[in-house]
Amino acid sequence: MIGKLNHVAIAVPDLDAAAATYRDTLGANVGAPQDEPDHGVTVVFIELPNTKIELLHPLGEDSPINGFLAKNPSGGIHHMCFEVDDIIAARDHLVASGARVLGDGNPKTGAHGKPVLFLHPKDFNGTLIELEEV
Ligand code: CO
Repeated sequence: MIGKLNHVAIAVPDLDAAAATYRDTLGANVGAPQDEPDHGVTVVFIELPNTKIELLHPLGEDSPINGFLAKNPSGGIHHMCFEVDDIIAARDHLVASGARVLGDGNPKTGAHGKPVLFLHPKDFNGTLIELEEV
């Protein structure tokens, strides 16, 4: 069911410093910051030949990553995103298998303008998983 690894998201306490590390130290192709108010984050995408890195920084008091950064003050891997062909079929299969979909269970529009869902980390070895329909 899952296809390519679309991105790995890393929550960071300092977005400019993290972008500079990827651009200058690691020599990656780093994009401009984008505010995603619906998701409570500012995002910087880093294009790699085979996948992307998504740097996440809180946007607003109610950002869903505030708690993560409180527990991981120097940042850390926040989620991985796998591609699926049909997000509704994937969701129905997951729910039927006993996995928990976060939120109201309906896809939201993700940072790339495509439908996304998040799966409960306790059902996936402590890893928050995002599915994105491509
Ligand atoms: Co993501």
